[in-house]
Amino acid sequence: MNTPIPVLTIDGPSGSGKGTVSRAVAQKLGWHFLDSGAIYRSLAIAVLRAGIPVENVDEIVALAENMNLSFTTDDPPEVLLNGQDIAGEIGSETCGNAASRIAAFGPVRQALLEKQRSFRRPPGLVADGRDMGTVVFQDAGYKVFLTASAEVRALRRYKQLKDKGLDVNLINLTREIEERDRRDLERKEAPLVMAKDAVRIDSSDLDIQQVIERVFGVVASPTG
Ligand code: DC
Repeated sequence: MNTPIPVLTIDGPSGSGKGTVSRAVAQKLGWHFLDSGAIYRSLAIAVLRAGIPVENVDEIVALAENMNLSFTTDDPPEVLLNGQDIAGEIGSETCGNAASRIAAFGPVRQALLEKQRSFRRPPGLVADGRDMGTVVFQDAGYKVFLTASAEVRALRRYKQLKDKGLDVNLINLTREIEERDRRDLERKEAPLVMAKDAVRIDSSDLDIQQVIERVFGVVASPTG
């Protein structure tokens, strides 16, 4: 019998620390890494550039099917959309909000499914997102749901953006994060929910190193 390629899924809301933790764990395990949010964000950039309204599902799906997306193995990676480096734009709140809006459409999610699954290659994959454990890699052997309070998440995001030299307002940021959470949680298609077989880790009072250690604990004792 073929042994499936192992997958560790790390789902959770924005600002929970998923990105940093997933990357670090993938590096330590020597596994591939999928930042599925970056796929939605790249599509959002393509949509905004093409001037397509964010509710025009048919055109967004057509764009998703035709976009040529690649990630380099640098840390952080360069993201190439149709050959152009979009790493500078991908982290903005405008892009994150547009990504969250287009991600609410079932056909858009469907169009991105195979692209995400193609990241599952030996020796293993760490997949970061919202529906990695519930939809994309339902059969994953290791599942984590990483969360933190909305205040802590807004503050972390605030510091990140400030460090990048961006002019941000904590109150507006908190409001935007809550709005994005609501959209991701309440949407009909693949909403942000914890997989039944996931281990919940609340990172509000933990530092990154402590979270990484807990995630390793999950890999040491598989779910399911
Ligand atoms: O993780 P992120 O902030 O880069 O994701 C940006 C948006 O993309 C997020 O608000 C919702 C959407 N997304 C999703 O719907 N499913 C995923 N697996 C990853 C991201």
